[in-house]
Parts: sequence; C-alpha cells; structure tokens
Amino acid sequence: MSVLITGIGELTTNVDAPLSDAALVLDGAEVAWTGPAADAPAADTRVDVEGRAVLPGWVDSHTHLVFAGDRTAEFNARMAGKPYRAGGIQVTVDATRAASDDELAAGLRRHVAEAVAQGTTCLETKTGYGLTVADELRSARLAAGVADEVTFLGAHLVPAGVSTSDYVDLVRGEMLDAVAPYVRWADVFCEKGAFDESASRDVLTAAASRGLGLRVHGNQLGPGPGVRLAVSLGAASVDHCTYLTPSDVDALAASDTVATLLPACDLSTRQPLPDARALLDAGATVALASNCNPGSSYTSSMAFCVTTAVLQMRLSVEEAVRAATLGGARALRRTDVGVLAPGARADVHVLDAPSATHLAYRPGVPLTWAVWRAGERVR
Ligand code: NIG
Repeated sequence: MSVLITGIGELTTNVDAPLSDAALVLDGAEVAWTGPAADAPAADTRVDVEGRAVLPGWVDSHTHLVFAGDRTAEFNARMAGKPYRAGGIQVTVDATRAASDDELAAGLRRHVAEAVAQGTTCLETKTGYGLTVADELRSARLAAGVADEVTFLGAHLVPAGVSTSDYVDLVRGEMLDAVAPYVRWADVFCEKGAFDESASRDVLTAAASRGLGLRVHGNQLGPGPGVRLAVSLGAASVDHCTYLTPSDVDALAASDTVATLLPACDLSTRQPLPDARALLDAGATVALASNCNPGSSYTSSMAFCVTTAVLQMRLSVEEAVRAATLGGARALRRTDVGVLAPGARADVHVLDAPSATHLAYRPGVPLTWAVWRAGERVR
C-alpha cells in the first residue's frame, strides 16, 4: 500500500537541501520517492499536508526508560542549589528492583508512546537501574520488546554493598553473558563517582569481545577520560560531552565516534551547555538526544533539545534538526533512519508549521501534527 504525502511546504530529507512545494511517497515500510510535488508519481492514497513542514522522525539515541519511581525531591533540591551526583542513581535502582515486570513494562510503553506522539520514530534505551544479573536481564528483555536499540549499562553505578572490583567482574562476566542476547550495545558511565578509566575499559573491552557495539557516558560532570576512551575503542558514540578540552574536540573530529549532546540534561542538572559549535566547526559528527530518565533529564521532547540547541548553543535550525535525526542515526550506526530517501524506513514527522524554523521560533509549542513510523501512521 503506497501513500503520497503532498502539499509539503518544506521537506527536509538530510540528503538534499530543504525543498519547498514538495511531495513524498511511502511504499509499505519504506520511502519510495521524494521530489517536487508537480512530479510526484501516483499512489494508492494521498494525504495533503497543506503547506506544512515534513522532516525525518526524530532519532533519540540516548534514553534510560526502564525505571520505576520518581526523583522529584532530588530535582527540587537541585533547583535549590544542590549539585547533581552520580549516587542519585541508587534511588532509582531501589525503586526499579522493587517494581513488578508489569509495572516496568507499563512505564516503558507509556514513555515510548509519549516520545512517538512528539515525533520520535527511532529510539534507543538502556538497562542500568537493575545492577544485579537478574534485574539487568529483566531490564534488557523488557527494553528489547519496545525499543529499536537496546544498550547494556550494567556499569552505571557500583551498587550499594558491593566492592568496585567484584562488581566490575560481575558486569563483564556473568551479567554480560546474561543480557547479550537482548542488546546490541554496551555502555559505561565513565565519571567521578561511577567508573574510572581502567574499570570502564575493562567492561567495554569485554563487551566488544562479545560482539557488542560500544557507547560511553563521558565528560558529563567535569573533564575526564571518557571521550579519549570512547575514541580509542572505536565507540559509536560518546554521550554528554559537556566538558571537553580542545584535544577531546580534535579527537572526536578525527574519529567515527559521534558526540551525542544532551542539552535537556545539562539544563536539568544546572551544568553548562556543551560547545556544539566547536564540535561542528572542527568537523565532528554531533547528535542531539533527550536522555530521558527520572534523575538528570526527565523529558522525552526532542523538539525541546532542538530548540535549546538553536537558541542557546548557536546551531542553525538545519544543523540542530540534522543532529536530532541523522546525527542520532549515525550514533546508532544506522543508515535506514534519520533520512527521507528511497529505501529508508518510512519514518515521517509532519509539523503544524510551514518550516522547521518554527521549532525554535515558537519555543515550547507542541508542533507535531502527524507521524508515520515504518509506514504506519501512528499519530
Ligand atoms: O545519562 N549519567 C548517567 N546516567 C544518566 C543519569 C541517571 C540518573 O541520574 O538516574 C544520565 O544523565
């Protein structure tokens, strides 16, 4: 079944320059054609979007959605001046361990639906609030049921009552073996208060030898080894990048490792915003992601991240939209999402606005008008 989406005021494909008076044909789960509306081929059905802007669905390459509980008190304390610390993760670990499978699955479905309703069509999520073999396995299994991409983050925090070296051995041994069938990626929180460079390397090299792709949480709360480690191990992405030295920027620019920026997290933890401009100007690939989680960034809104990147991080609208779509795809090493081109997954986001500029021009206004995911209209 093919669908002709016509009357497009501005079409962003991430392949060619934005096109006005455009059309798009979806055939089943794939994009079949893009181009000027006047040249559009016939299709089984036709949707006239009456001058609205169309872009690829958001690719949210960094979320932590397998969780239970709430950290409002911690958020309030932060807004009153307390710093964000890695140790807050334990609060969510306790609540997650205490939740039933049904409660966790319902929360996951609710958060994924919330993201889809705002234009997210490809979503990564992580384990990391279980931190026992059984709880990480459960998180990985539940995540695999709803997310496009699943990451093992057993190395999120050393849980209370366990020594660091025993825990690292568990993560890179029995825990990794248990979760491996459900995940494509492994990640480490390489930061003060979580895992140092050597422990992070041990976990990541064990995961790589099991065939998993690598990701790193790095340089979130201060300068550190995260970027260097991610680049040296060929990780697909290093996420946060809030505190970068010039040599971190150069290393990223010379690598295939994507710098994934999480501006909602920096705002919510009262950190500075990362220097996206320096990264792009140096030639690094930048992704924007929500980092939706109950501790440091409780939003699923990719539009908010794009708006912030434009208004406060000196990206153009085109650069920010690209980072939130194609950048996310690159961070997940996927070529089928983040673009609207023949053969790509039919993931389409229609804004109730004539151009993507309105994402920054009308901050905070919910602009998602329609969403197709793999050719299916989901909103
Ligand atoms: O990406 N930095 C580590 N992990 C999450 C926060 C998790 C939490 O505070 O619950 C993040 O910000």
